Amino acid sequence: MRVYRFHAFGLEQLRLEECPSPEPAPGQVVLDVKAVSLNYRDLLVIKGLYNPKLKLPATPLSDGAGIISAVGPDVTRVRVGDRVMSHFVAGWIDGPFKQEYLGTTLGTPGAGLAAEQVALPAEAVVPIPEGYDFAQAATLPIAGLTAWSALKTVGDVQPGQTVLTLGTGGVSIFTLQLAKALGAHVIITSRSDDKLDRARRLGADHTINYATTPDWEQAVLELTGGLGVDLTVETAGPGTLDRSLKATRAGGTIALLGALTGRQGLVTSGLILMKRLRIVGIMVDCRAAFEALTRFLVAHRIRPVIDRRFGFDQLPEALRYMEAGQHFGKLVVSVA
Ligand SMILES: NC(=O)c1ccc[n+]([C@@H]2O[C@H](COP(=O)([O-])OP(=O)(O)OC[C@H]3O[C@@H](n4cnc5c(N)ncnc54)[C@H](OP(=O)(O)O)[C@@H]3O)[C@@H](O)[C@H]2O)c1
Repeated sequence: MRVYRFHAFGLEQLRLEECPSPEPAPGQVVLDVKAVSLNYRDLLVIKGLYNPKLKLPATPLSDGAGIISAVGPDVTRVRVGDRVMSHFVAGWIDGPFKQEYLGTTLGTPGAGLAAEQVALPAEAVVPIPEGYDFAQAATLPIAGLTAWSALKTVGDVQPGQTVLTLGTGGVSIFTLQLAKALGAHVIITSRSDDKLDRARRLGADHTINYATTPDWEQAVLELTGGLGVDLTVETAGPGTLDRSLKATRAGGTIALLGALTGRQGLVTSGLILMKRLRIVGIMVDCRAAFEALTRFLVAHRIRPVIDRRFGFDQLPEALRYMEAGQHFGKLVVSVA
């Protein structure tokens, strides 16, 4: 079978190699991968920015969907022939997050999905939602579940509340779709008017071009009667956090999840305490939340937005396309 590996950091180091098919160890299943989706994290992993001490060679990508082709001798949870998706924080099944779960994430340090076959923990797969094809299912493990985590687990968004989300990448477009289905008003930003048009067609109530309106937090305040939004889904990180603090209402919540502008920066802490803001870090979510998300998607007939599909040979090209930030929603690579 074919598998992508990098033996040194850098996108140009990614190689498609031949290796023997995996055998399922006790507690594992083998997934015949049919489609994978890209996340911004994959770029960071391959460039050595996510974990510079990562043991190499490594196989990237965490989000995929396919068919179980073999199960370990003791596995009863799933069967050969089941159509499933990978669960990113493989060790986090339910309950509160624990530090040790970080060591179980797929696409390093756990198994990478950029392969025709992969051995995964039997506990780290979730059935594909009814009516979804493999490409659609592959978009859910990180981007879909992170948006769900921000809106439900952390934000507890109620009908009539207002949600702000930054940019039109994978997480943000899922946030828009899910928030609308939850009955919320949505404000979304982008550097592109074309992308904002598309966001309006998906139901966004208000759009702001952050390139032409650099003080976009003021625009958010004007749109919310000077109060600010109930929940901000912070996909960009330290470079935008201060503006997000200003754009969020007193007592409101910021779901802090992104690192598009880096991982360190200055923050006006006075804003946090004077407005009694709640800032919650997000690390995707547990399997129970993933299962709840799939039920919600089916009930509300939500289909992921796939910007472009690539062939397996085109993975490096797909990663460069993501790096350029031209996409709207998700990028998918067909494996079979
Ligand atoms: N903590 C977690 O659990 C978790 C989970 C998933 C993702 N993340 C992080 O969340 C971020 C987004 O992930 P993703 O997979 O959705 O990325 P993505 O699909 O690559 O989306 C990137 C988009 O964000 C927008 N953007 C870039 N810089 C921006 C800025 N300074 N201000 C506002 N928007 C900006 C751009 O949209 P426009 O072209 O429309 O401007 C860009 O296309 C990444 O940092 C990722 O690592 C974290």
